[in-house]
Amino acid sequence: VERKATNVHWHKGDVTREKRAEILGHKGVTLWFTGLSGSGKSTVAVALERALTARGVLSYRLDGDNIRLGINANLGFSAADRQENIRRVGEISRLFADTGIVVLSSFISPYREDREKVRKMHEVGGLPFIEVFVDCPLDEAESRDPKGLYKKARAGEIKGFTGIDDPYEVPTSPELHLHTAEMTLEQEVALIFSTLQERGIIP
Ligand code: PPS
Repeated sequence: VERKATNVHWHKGDVTREKRAEILGHKGVTLWFTGLSGSGKSTVAVALERALTARGVLSYRLDGDNIRLGINANLGFSAADRQENIRRVGEISRLFADTGIVVLSSFISPYREDREKVRKMHEVGGLPFIEVFVDCPLDEAESRDPKGLYKKARAGEIKGFTGIDDPYEVPTSPELHLHTAEMTLEQEVALIFSTLQERGIIP
């Protein structure tokens, strides 16, 4: 994005990320859930948030629908708007992860390039980023259709719906790949949990 403000400079504080992690007892991270509408992104994030909270880990969910009701209310579903949506939520995720929170970001994020940019902004900032591909065949997601949106898209009432008449670019090297049509929710949560432990992010 083109930065319009000039004469702005980074102001460094003296409380370190390490100090914040010491207070919380774990590190910050962004878990980036990407996948089709109805693939199970939010379901996994909600279950994971519950499990993390029970273990005393501070987490926070950022979710497409919720964010679009607030800070991103001025964005629709054109390619440019989806790109800006992901840029903003990527930046928000990065800030939250820097505070030491385990951030659970669930967005379709259909374009590979946008996801890579979010990954980059974390890497540059020295923050862990875990891309979780919530993989579910289109026909399965469509048969679930929790909000009746696929039905509307097929009827032509929603234009540019991901998977129907708008693209979803599958991740090529996600850290985690969940086949939600074949795994139980408990297995998915357990897999993510052990990944966070193996990486030394949570105890
Ligand atoms: S994106 O592509 O990452 O910017 O989308 P996201 O912010 O995750 O928002 C996806 C939710 O918006 C609803 N919705 C649509 N999705 C895809 N395409 C179109 N045209 C569309 N219109 C509305 C839908 O409920 C998505 O929610 P999830 O939770 O993914 O099913």
